[in-house]
Amino acid sequence: MLAKRPPLGWNSWNTFGPYINEKVVMETADAMVERGLRDAGYEYVVIDDCWSLRQRGEDGRIVADPEKFPHGMKYVADYVHSKGLKFGMYSCAGTMTCAGYPGSFDNEYLDAKTFAEFGVDFLKYDNCYVPDHVHSPHLYRRMGLALKQSGREILFSLCNWGINDVHSWARSVGGHMYRSTGDICDNFESFKNIAISQLDKLGTSAVGCFNDPDMLICGMGGKGNVAAGGCTPEEYRMHFALWCMMGVPLMIGCDIRNCDEATLALLKDPALLAIDQDEEARPPVWLQPTVKDDIINLFKHLSDNRYVLGIFNFRDHDATNYTYLEDMGIPQTAGYTVKLRDLETGEEAAPLDRMIRTTIKSHTCKLFDIQIVEK
Ligand code: GLA
Repeated sequence: MLAKRPPLGWNSWNTFGPYINEKVVMETADAMVERGLRDAGYEYVVIDDCWSLRQRGEDGRIVADPEKFPHGMKYVADYVHSKGLKFGMYSCAGTMTCAGYPGSFDNEYLDAKTFAEFGVDFLKYDNCYVPDHVHSPHLYRRMGLALKQSGREILFSLCNWGINDVHSWARSVGGHMYRSTGDICDNFESFKNIAISQLDKLGTSAVGCFNDPDMLICGMGGKGNVAAGGCTPEEYRMHFALWCMMGVPLMIGCDIRNCDEATLALLKDPALLAIDQDEEARPPVWLQPTVKDDIINLFKHLSDNRYVLGIFNFRDHDATNYTYLEDMGIPQTAGYTVKLRDLETGEEAAPLDRMIRTTIKSHTCKLFDIQIVEK
């Protein structure tokens, strides 16, 4: 079974956009291993749009651009596999990909076979240039089955940006993850708006098929294909922690060959990854569900009766936050209270009588391991 946990990997789009080639992909696979990301759990190396020629070959197949991939795709796939990693590629449900390369419309079964022959383990499937008379969800049915018939086990990553109510049918068509929003770009507002748009829509994200609020921007530092000003290190931590609290796929978007040690430490943070990869894959409860104050409290059940509380301050100034135990499900009369441990500093804390009081800097987050204990 694929996607027992939210898939972890790297995708070329955020940094490289159209400037993708064999060297970048193979060096990225090397970096995944050498920089410890594979051992931390990252598995898929995915090439996004712009990998093929503009026209199909005479046999009707999509052809890898020989300038970008001089040895062909099988060669790259074999290399990625030799590193103990999995290989992903990209196509589109319409007649062309979003960047204008051949899409898989009406060629789904042939293309799925081609991908299987390359040795592909993951297919991201976009939604541009769908002909007017066609209902695009139907095209995801086609590719879902075509991949199953391809002779290879291939993870199906739907990318229709959350439209056509994809939350309700992605699982039915064999999807393993479904993009639920428009494209992320490298700044605070972008990840904030994406997260807020999905926090109340995570109920259908579960083992086997996960909500995908787009790839990570951590470590991009204002450079690359989706550059838009960049984030501070604290904001990148907030973004990563939010994705982990949502329990969604973590597809790294920065250039892992050159990213700094702080970025690597964040991407490999064992406490955060354990939250993301928890086997029960439960979405968090959004306490006090209002964004009016721009402070978001998320309470997440983990396996083995463990819990985590995440407090995210989106305000432009420092704040004091109150998390009410009653909101988590512990009324005053229950005879229970909580013990808290800050996941970053290890510091322990006790709540006030009915609430947890936290001071929290602007654009940062705090996560607490929570134990429920008798008073
Ligand atoms: C769409 C997708 C992006 C990326 C580009 C490639 O915009 O949402 O994630 O794949 O296409 O052109």
